[in-house]
Amino acid sequence: MHRAPRCPRRSSSTPGRRNTVPTCSACCCRSGCRPNAGRRKPTGSSPNGCRGGIVNGDKFRKIAALALLGALPAASALAQPVGDAARGRELVEQNCIACHGVDGNGPVPSFPKVAGLHYEYTIKQLHEFQGKRRPSEIMQPIAAVLTEQQVQDVALYFASQRAVPVDTVDASLLPLGRKLYEDGNSDSGVPACAGCHGTEGRGNARFPRLAGQFQEYVVAQIQQFAEGKRTNDKRMMQVIANRLTAEEVQAVAHYIASMP
Ligand code: HEC
Ligand code: HEC
Repeated sequence: MHRAPRCPRRSSSTPGRRNTVPTCSACCCRSGCRPNAGRRKPTGSSPNGCRGGIVNGDKFRKIAALALLGALPAASALAQPVGDAARGRELVEQNCIACHGVDGNGPVPSFPKVAGLHYEYTIKQLHEFQGKRRPSEIMQPIAAVLTEQQVQDVALYFASQRAVPVDTVDASLLPLGRKLYEDGNSDSGVPACAGCHGTEGRGNARFPRLAGQFQEYVVAQIQQFAEGKRTNDKRMMQVIANRLTAEEVQAVAHYIASMP
């Protein structure tokens, strides 16, 4: 039988790098990996903070394993951010401000907030718009003319900005949204968003920051994943998006938008 991998939280020997792999609830609870080197399987609310509840068979193990595959090479290949945030700001003032705002908190809910996105995540997205691996009639031509230096500069600038939560959320949706975000839905096999995007939605190099993101944008991206239009997620979000009901998508999007 296939042996589950060790929990990276326990086996990681590189201080300060741990936040580049999914948290325990993403890997151990769902892939059944062994925080205690196989002494027992994590269940329920174990002392490691595993919340359990989403052990929905092989598909989940696959998602979690993919999460690890995506995250681990990044941990070893992480370079020091290079770029110049001041130059990045100038570029934003000239080319990005109308849609993303000068501080990355844009004025239009269908244009994503880019404040606080991680350096590596922003660079990956801009490269994927450039290579047409992420669809967007708006962003592809904008990204296409950026030099590699400009990509690094804006990525550093966005990472230095703070996302402001949205104040036009529907409060009646927040309890369901929060439950999905923190615990997922074990009936339909939806994992906790927190497992990859972080309890506070701050994300990391591989999993985008979500806290404070416009609900309209979140809903649109989940739709793109569900329809297989956005495919730069190593299939993690495509599987999840297909398991969410329309009501759940709205609820979790409003909860995300409300997160500080
Ligand atoms: C005309 C409006 C517009 C302008 C100008 C614009 N963007 Fe965008 N940007 C968008 C839209 C719309 C998206 C979402 C695309 C999609 O549907 O996936 C986006 C997405 C992004 C993303 C991905 C965000 C995420 O959370 O995944 C990054 C990074 C980004 N833009 C950077 C920039 C930079 C850098 C500039 C300036 C050089 C810029 N944008 C200018 C509209 C714009
Ligand atoms: C197994 C890990 C994992 C889990 C669990 C997960 N996500 Fe994601 N999510 C990803 C990955 C990977 C991406 C795309 C990264 C990329 O484009 O490089 C992503 C992207 C997103 C985006 C697009 C963000 C942007 O800025 O464009 C949204 C919105 C999102 N996820 C919402 C959710 C929600 C809501 C949940 C819970 C129902 C969830 N995710 C659970 C891994 C995960």
